[in-house]
Amino acid sequence: MSAVPGSEDYCAALAPFWHPVLRVEDLGEGPHGCELLGRPLTVFRLNGELACLDDVCRHFGASLSLGDVTGSGLRCHYHGWTYGLDGRCVDIPARRGVAIPREARVRSYPVEERYGLVWASLVEQPAHPIPEFPEHGDDRYHLTPIRAYGEWRATAPRIVMGALDDTHFPWVHPGLLGDPAHPEPPDHEAFREGEYLVSRYTTLQPANETISGQDGSGELEPVTYTNWCTPTTIRLRKEGPAGTYAIYQAMCPLGPDRSLVFLQMARDFDRDPERDQSYLEFEDQIQDQDRPVIESQRPWLLPPLSARMTLFVRPADLPLIAFQRWMEELGVPQV
Ligand code: FES
Ligand SMILES: [Fe+2]
Repeated sequence: MSAVPGSEDYCAALAPFWHPVLRVEDLGEGPHGCELLGRPLTVFRLNGELACLDDVCRHFGASLSLGDVTGSGLRCHYHGWTYGLDGRCVDIPARRGVAIPREARVRSYPVEERYGLVWASLVEQPAHPIPEFPEHGDDRYHLTPIRAYGEWRATAPRIVMGALDDTHFPWVHPGLLGDPAHPEPPDHEAFREGEYLVSRYTTLQPANETISGQDGSGELEPVTYTNWCTPTTIRLRKEGPAGTYAIYQAMCPLGPDRSLVFLQMARDFDRDPERDQSYLEFEDQIQDQDRPVIESQRPWLLPPLSARMTLFVRPADLPLIAFQRWMEELGVPQV
């Protein structure tokens, strides 16, 4: 576990949530090693069913992800112990013909496939549902392939805050999402709704494909954003002149200062799949611009409001203040 102060509280607060650990398309034939909140896990599929187990063999502690999936389970590469979907050992090749000891098992975790991602939780009964992506599976929307941006050296709530924050648009994304000549913030609404913190605002953005369905003129056009956040995910819905453009961005908190970033877009205009590349390149560019800034933020975990280490500007930073308050209620990271 990392030496980041507050990391145990951070991991404990995020444990009751579902988290995306990999893309379904990356699972492949064999087991796939992943990490969640400092825990090494292995995910595999047996007879069509998914399993997620601790990635530490009960025999001599080798990584089960080095093994193979056979007809009866996940077989460790070191001495062939084989584990079923529930983590129970079903075969010890060096000791066949006698009962397998009850202790010969590894912990198993809830695992589900949703929106092209494999989701896992470290608790038996997750207290929160997998964050919704209603545009996925809605025929009016065309989906781009899921992007896996790999590991960012940042805490997941800070990445969510980066997407929730619009006042950086003119500075980090000039000409794409904002205009430095117009740094004035829009009026924000921010409120809690069920499992989410929601923020809504209307702003002016330089016309581009995500607004106009084509490379735009750069003229400013009005768009309305509605964002639904959880501590580690955000769905942004942008309504502009051409239609609705949605981004579903889900982070996997590997540890307190490292997160995987997954992202998928949906649009109800310009639906030709041949146009996807252009949207993907646009979003890749936005992420490339955000990443060094988010990774540079200190401290790693959000400091409590009372520490006044973050000097929020009111009313411009209203959604971020609301997010931070909610994180404090949930007990997510305080240093
Ligand atoms: S370490 Fe896995 S079978 Fe020996
Ligand atoms: Fe950004």
